[in-house]
Amino acid sequence: MKKVLIDCDPGIDDALALALAAGSTGSLDLVGVTTVGGNVDLPLTTANALALREFLQMGDVPVTPGSAGALMRRTVRATAVHGLTGLGDVVLPAPVRGPSEGHAVDFIVETLRSAPGEITLVAVGPLTNIALAVRREPRVVEWARDLVIMGGSYTRGNHNPAAEFNMLADPEAAAIVFEAGWTVKMLGLDVTLSAVVTSAVLERMRPLGRLADLLVPAAQFYGVVSAEGGPAIHDACAVAYLLDPGLFTCVPAVVNVETAGQYTRGMTVTDFRIGDREANALVATSLDVKGFWDLVVGTYERLAVRLG
Ligand code: RIB
Ligand code: CA
Repeated sequence: MKKVLIDCDPGIDDALALALAAGSTGSLDLVGVTTVGGNVDLPLTTANALALREFLQMGDVPVTPGSAGALMRRTVRATAVHGLTGLGDVVLPAPVRGPSEGHAVDFIVETLRSAPGEITLVAVGPLTNIALAVRREPRVVEWARDLVIMGGSYTRGNHNPAAEFNMLADPEAAAIVFEAGWTVKMLGLDVTLSAVVTSAVLERMRPLGRLADLLVPAAQFYGVVSAEGGPAIHDACAVAYLLDPGLFTCVPAVVNVETAGQYTRGMTVTDFRIGDREANALVATSLDVKGFWDLVVGTYERLAVRLG
């Protein structure tokens, strides 16, 4: 059983990633969810995480809010993509339970301290909380079993031609994380853009009862679903990597995050020609798309039985 701590900014694809984790209780032990301002403001990402915890029957997993905004930059949001609430036009039952006391950064540091080498950190939003945890306690780099992020790209951006949203939202945080000394497992747009909900995938989701009430409208809000293409559920790739890393081809690289460029701020400058340097990242370069969807839909089907 893999222990996992997910830092997220729900967010439609964050929600589908949490659903994948919720359906993987046989493989993943989710020790906590922390939230960060990103797609939408922190109060909304936290409210969405709390609602998802109960809707997905994630039990007593603590949800702890963290950083509202970037370390140094003005706020960048993605409400045009995720809607004003962050979950498109999906309305989940209001959560009964609130967030845990304290700040996500302290939760991350203390949780990793309590189980050195056991917990995989998964970050699928801006890296503000992760960077602050590293600054507060550099040993988190040793205590974390692994760090897996959805973010960046070695080809092109999405929020602009150069930068992927999570990196652009807090470039200084991303730079701190990539320079911290661990080997970042970087699942960037290069692979996540192929994880699209086509109409064939959507048809596999429709019969999933209450879970379909989340998955189907969320996917349809997130992008135009067609036979040839559809919205990419980026963040679910990070959880899929935990469940079956063999779905991905990953290559060592030296990644530097641009923080000064007027047009390139947030770009993950990825050099696969390492030479005598040490790789600071393992960068995903391909995804077995059929295998991904068989894993994801199969997991959702098991979760759907539980949810009714
Ligand atoms: O670029 C995609 C990433 O930005 C995903 O994490 C999505 O949720 C948004 O945060
Ligand atoms: Ca996200």
